[in-house]
Amino acid sequence: MKQSVSIGVIGTGMWGEDHLGCLKTDERVRVSWLCDRDAARLDAAMRKFNVPNGARDYREMLKDTTLDAVIIATPPFTHATMAIDVMRAGKHVLVEKPMVHSRADMRRLLLEAARYPRLVRLDASFRSTRTQPKFTFIKNLIDSGVLGKVYHIHHSMMSPTMLCDRNPQAGWAIQRKFAGGGPSLNWGGYDLSFHLGLLGDKPRLKSLRSIARPGLRDIQRPGYVCDVEQHFAAFMEFTGGLTYYYERGESAHCIAGSETQIHGTKAGLKFNYLEWESYDIEFFSPGMQGTGPTERKIITVDRGDKPENCNILPLRHFVDCIQGNARPIMPLTLAAKHLDILFKIVGQGRKR
Ligand SMILES: NC(=O)c1ccc[n+]([C@@H]2O[C@H](COP(=O)([O-])OP(=O)(O)OC[C@H]3O[C@@H](n4cnc5c(N)ncnc54)[C@H](O)[C@@H]3O)[C@@H](O)[C@H]2O)c1
Repeated sequence: MKQSVSIGVIGTGMWGEDHLGCLKTDERVRVSWLCDRDAARLDAAMRKFNVPNGARDYREMLKDTTLDAVIIATPPFTHATMAIDVMRAGKHVLVEKPMVHSRADMRRLLLEAARYPRLVRLDASFRSTRTQPKFTFIKNLIDSGVLGKVYHIHHSMMSPTMLCDRNPQAGWAIQRKFAGGGPSLNWGGYDLSFHLGLLGDKPRLKSLRSIARPGLRDIQRPGYVCDVEQHFAAFMEFTGGLTYYYERGESAHCIAGSETQIHGTKAGLKFNYLEWESYDIEFFSPGMQGTGPTERKIITVDRGDKPENCNILPLRHFVDCIQGNARPIMPLTLAAKHLDILFKIVGQGRKR
């Protein structure tokens, strides 16, 4: 096994920089290449993170036979072509979420990825979901049977801002042809990764009914047209008798925190799954001791030695997989299952 892993990062924008900061914390990693088509951004990142090689065209870095792996942190419409080229060059790949922006790209990426079973091919949507203590804790609780059979999931969040408000240079995030969607593709991979993962990824979508509304807030970014959905809601039926009500807004006219409810036949849970929010889980069980029909207790999840930055553990997982010490938590095929649901929600919802 190689002691040190040589990594290249494509995209030195907001999230590429976050990756670089996190990779510095892993002694096993040597970041040997950076790529960004924006020369000034590339140059600044190379100096800030002391990276020896830079390219404006990622195909130049792929020629380096000593490079082991590549992280793709560019806008979604670029992901499929880049990931395919990376795998063809024999390098392991971690693709930022959303893995792709369209069904056509999803098909060609999966087809190509199947040809390289020896390479690690990871999607990043397990970031604030499966590598965090809340996920493991809640999954163990469900697996213990204390909730009975989980028959319904309810998840909603209404945020006043979109990605381009937090990251002004991400004008691409407001236009479908570059981003694929609004809150659906920006958050949906995380949401479905967390919730369906709690049930061991067994439920499969049977049907859904949805709305998806664009045009609620006009956002101007030079060179881009704002046409992504800003609010969607879906009622879904899955195999195994599970139903799931799922709603998200970014720039709809309401603000509400992230809340998940898990309804079981014996007990229920309410929590905010986001990694940086409360670690208190509300547990509801049939009432005892005269407190009414339902009793509520708070269980606080132990954070253990979880690092502050939610991006550190997923990157460690990528390196673990490359070194043969772990199996990919979020293979591209599983990310595709989630994206397929999201494309259906938005596709059907926009017709209403
Ligand atoms: N910003 C966040 O909070 C965040 C969090 C998690 C994941 N992500 C994901 O990371 C990815 C990047 O998002 P971001 O916020 O960093 O965007 P960004 O716009 O800040 O950065 C993207 C970078 O990619 C570069 N780029 C674009 N096309 C390129 C090409 N063909 N070759 C080389 N470089 C190219 C741009 O010049 C830019 O520097 C997206 O998939 C996004 O969903 C972002």
